[in-house]
Amino acid sequence: MSNVAKLRISPGRGVGGTMRVPGDKSISHRALMLGALAEGQTRIRGFLAGEDCLATMAALRAMGVSIDDTNPDEIIVTGVGLRGLSAPGKPLDMGNSGTGMRLLAGILAAQVFSSELTGDASLRSRPMERIAKPLRKMGADIETQDGCPPLKILGGRLSPLMYESPVASAQVKSAVLLAGLFADGVTRVEEPAITRDHTERMLQTFGVEVRTGNLSSEVSGPARLTACEINVPGDLSSAAFPLAAGLLSEQGEVAIEHVGINPTRTGIIQILRLMGAELRIEAPGLEGGEPVARLVAAPSQLNGITVPPELVPLAIDELPLVFALAACADGETVIHGAEELRHKESDRIGIMVSNLRNLGVEVEEYDDGARIVGGGLQAGTVDSAGDHRIAMAFAVVSMCASAEVTILDTANVATSFPGFVSLMQSIGLQVESL
Ligand code: S3P
Repeated sequence: MSNVAKLRISPGRGVGGTMRVPGDKSISHRALMLGALAEGQTRIRGFLAGEDCLATMAALRAMGVSIDDTNPDEIIVTGVGLRGLSAPGKPLDMGNSGTGMRLLAGILAAQVFSSELTGDASLRSRPMERIAKPLRKMGADIETQDGCPPLKILGGRLSPLMYESPVASAQVKSAVLLAGLFADGVTRVEEPAITRDHTERMLQTFGVEVRTGNLSSEVSGPARLTACEINVPGDLSSAAFPLAAGLLSEQGEVAIEHVGINPTRTGIIQILRLMGAELRIEAPGLEGGEPVARLVAAPSQLNGITVPPELVPLAIDELPLVFALAACADGETVIHGAEELRHKESDRIGIMVSNLRNLGVEVEEYDDGARIVGGGLQAGTVDSAGDHRIAMAFAVVSMCASAEVTILDTANVATSFPGFVSLMQSIGLQVESL
């Protein structure tokens, strides 16, 4: 991955307009994987053709799954059935994608062939024992390198598992549930806090019974998946950036059509409203088991808050944006309970804190969060450390800076939000790629 891409943002609050954002990343990964394990042809509309999901697509193709993406509006996955994957013959490169690696590991744990999962430098530094441990308990042989990728997996016949996960992670839950599809009997995951439930919802769309409690999910194996049609909603995690621009705007509203508002993902809406944001949810509907709506952000005066800890897991990917918006708010914002941010595509607490300081913001760093003193941003340079969400968060809030801001190492924006720059330009953000 090239690290030379840069963005330059000139101040200006004349933002407004209506748009769609690319498809949901979490749902796109799952649609490919479940489509691959199903019987029949699964048609996916609204698929996110970002680098993360394309890595999952390449990995499945390397295991013999036919995926036709000649029409980007409708990807067709010809499922091989639960036992139909074949040995990949080479390491599977998941690029920057933790979701791709962790979820696929759950499937690979049940295969009779050996496989290796690797990725870019960021992914190779991320914790994998959190999935390796439960998958070993189910009977898979998994090697990590000091807890990180590459993962060497020798799968086989799995036993079902009752797993009490020490970490609130949809990726861990999903890896275990996916492995559970292959095991004889009931596999159950209990979590310390609510995490996104796309796997559970989509398994049901593929005809698999999933039993869920407040903090638990279970499947019975061996399962049979039936191909279906998936309409992927726009990704709320991507929509958050133009919506934030709408809140900071002095001109008009920003409206985004057809965004996923799964309640396990909407912590950002609640946090922004607590900060004083005027955010409207219009025309709510349900598509393929996932709630969708039109979201509208109006110019708002944002105030600092103490982020309620129970909202942290429900806004986990949007917290870099909350850090950045806090710098533009009136007063102090305090975030605790977000230690998981240190294990994302970068150490998102450390990188946000150092970059906010680069732009003149007073910040106190905590192990599990930060205290950010609002009041505005100065001009300067930000190093996103190759983290897409950090790059996009600074791109948006730089519209309020005192002068130009340059953001370094931004190529990975394409992992989750292809077309980010042109879409933001279309609503008036003065951003250019260098
Ligand atoms: C994801 C779960 C989250 C999130 C990631 C996508 C998923 O990770 O940060 O971007 O698709 O399951 P954790 O579940 O590990 O917190």
